[in-house]
Amino acid sequence: MPGRLYLDNAATSYPKPACVYEAMLAYAQDCGASPGRGQYAESREGARLIRQARERLARLLNAERPEAIVFTLNTTDALNLAIKGVARAARLAAGGRFPTGTRVITTAMDHNSVLRPYHALAEEGAEVVHVEADPDTGEVAPERVIAAMDAGSMPMLVAVNLASNVAGTIQPAAEMGAACRARGVPLLIDAAQAVGHIPVDVEALGCDLLAFPGHKGLMGPQGTGGLYIRPGFEARVATTREGGTGSWSEQDAQPTSMPERFEAGSHNTMGIVGLSAAVGWMLERGVASLRAHEEALIEAMLAGLREAGVRHPFWPVLEGPCTAMRLLGPAEASRRVAVFALVHDTLEPAEIAAILESEFGILARAGLTCAPRVHAAMGTLDRGGAVRVSFGPFVTLDDVRHVVHAIRALCQDEPRPVIVPRTAIGRASA
Ligand SMILES: Cc1ncc(COP(=O)(O)O)c(C=O)c1O
Repeated sequence: MPGRLYLDNAATSYPKPACVYEAMLAYAQDCGASPGRGQYAESREGARLIRQARERLARLLNAERPEAIVFTLNTTDALNLAIKGVARAARLAAGGRFPTGTRVITTAMDHNSVLRPYHALAEEGAEVVHVEADPDTGEVAPERVIAAMDAGSMPMLVAVNLASNVAGTIQPAAEMGAACRARGVPLLIDAAQAVGHIPVDVEALGCDLLAFPGHKGLMGPQGTGGLYIRPGFEARVATTREGGTGSWSEQDAQPTSMPERFEAGSHNTMGIVGLSAAVGWMLERGVASLRAHEEALIEAMLAGLREAGVRHPFWPVLEGPCTAMRLLGPAEASRRVAVFALVHDTLEPAEIAAILESEFGILARAGLTCAPRVHAAMGTLDRGGAVRVSFGPFVTLDDVRHVVHAIRALCQDEPRPVIVPRTAIGRASA
């Protein structure tokens, strides 16, 4: 994208490391066979590449074994498998319906990819509890999750977001994990905005399930993602899709072995090969060093916005061109990922995104970004959400200076005509 600055890495990362494109092309041109579906060398090579991807992901997430990683299409697919698989297992155990008093817990910071599968459970009689978040920082106090767990029957599942796709807030999920473990309540973590950005360790988090994208912070291609399932916990997750696995073909029932139990049908081998190259790239550099770069960018962005007069509840009121603008989420770099949602008192989010693109070549996102409850919690629902910029590992300090300059300039120049109708942007970014 010459002359354009892509800052929608929270939607999907771009560009990817060169090795990702190279690995995908090499597989497509030189191998091409479906893994686990033939005895010939190319199919065996495909199976080796899939195994290598699983091993690398297990290493990155500190999973007990590679088979604990199930490949999915994206985070949404992984969350659906986790939520609906746990729910179906509970229904099967209870003779076909949820037992009276079935509850599931999530938070105000969670994404529609958790909220909508939960809503589908509510349509079948489950009660959904949404735990509140701090309106300034987006932090969910573990005590609130604990209080929700203890306020009724033992929940069937707790699902929490590890890093917000709106406010960037990193949640104290390990404390929630310890509380869930102590009560024997299954914990599902939505790590869509966390993996590749902050070190994610499934053991330290104490989770049973962790959904992640391959195409965001991990730098793999779209159409990739995965679900970590703690070894042994798979027995409490019923299948939601069944079909061919290239193994145990004589039996009607889906194999119970991992990961075949949840991987029916041919793999997205080209995508997984690209993801594997990306994770290899990441393991070589180390997530901690990528995080150090990201934190430097966050510091620079926070300082630039603050100096421009952008409002934040924890900042003193300063003079500056941007006093009509508010930043959501934590004011400390260590408590957030590089996702910045800004709300202006009069300019519409879509209008700001349009100006950023047309006048500054910056590709930003506008609207609710699939997280209406986050905006409700932070008081920005009636503003139509926020404008959001999100960084990846190839963003530089110069890029951050360019964004801050653009935000200062557009605040100085108001009022402006609406360049793009809000609905058009809204639809494109839904
Ligand atoms: C917090 C969160 N959860 C889930 C998702 C869904 O991710 P995917 O696009 O990989 O399905 C997103 C996507 O932006 C997200 O930010």
